[in-house]
Amino acid sequence: MPTVQPGSKVLVSGANGFIAMWVVRTLLEKGYAVRGTVRSQERGRHLTDTFKEYGDKFELVVVKDITTVCVFLIRVSVSGGTSPAIPNSIAE
Ligand SMILES: NC(=O)c1ccc[n+]([C@@H]2O[C@H](COP(=O)([O-])OP(=O)(O)OC[C@H]3O[C@@H](n4cnc5c(N)ncnc54)[C@H](OP(=O)(O)O)[C@@H]3O)[C@@H](O)[C@H]2O)c1
Repeated sequence: MPTVQPGSKVLVSGANGFIAMWVVRTLLEKGYAVRGTVRSQERGRHLTDTFKEYGDKFELVVVKDITTVCVFLIRVSVSGGTSPAIPNSIAE
């Protein structure tokens, strides 16, 4: 049984990459919801079209520098604190 159950939301960074797109497709086919990140709107435009059949199960957010999110997660896991640095689109 998978640790993360179908129906859960999975974050895929760099969702426009060749391998990442296959990861996104596989997750959607298996019943997961996917939030993909891209570095710019232009780089992700084709994804919205590619995965439109999955409706709101696929969403795209622009994160210019994913390392800011990683730093946030490390800070929270170490200190248990919160930081305003994380983009709301990722945190929800
Ligand atoms: N495809 C294969 O058959 C294959 C086989 C073996 C190993 N690999 C390795 O697997 C990895 C992914 O391959 P892929 O074919 O999916 O590559 P890809 O289609 O070129 O995708 C690369 C992804 O990484 C992102 N990226 C590149 N530089 C970045 C940076 N400095 N900061 C943040 N994001 C960055 C790209 O974003 P942008 O579009 O915004 O640049 C894109 O989303 C690569 O390391 C590749 O060498 C691939």
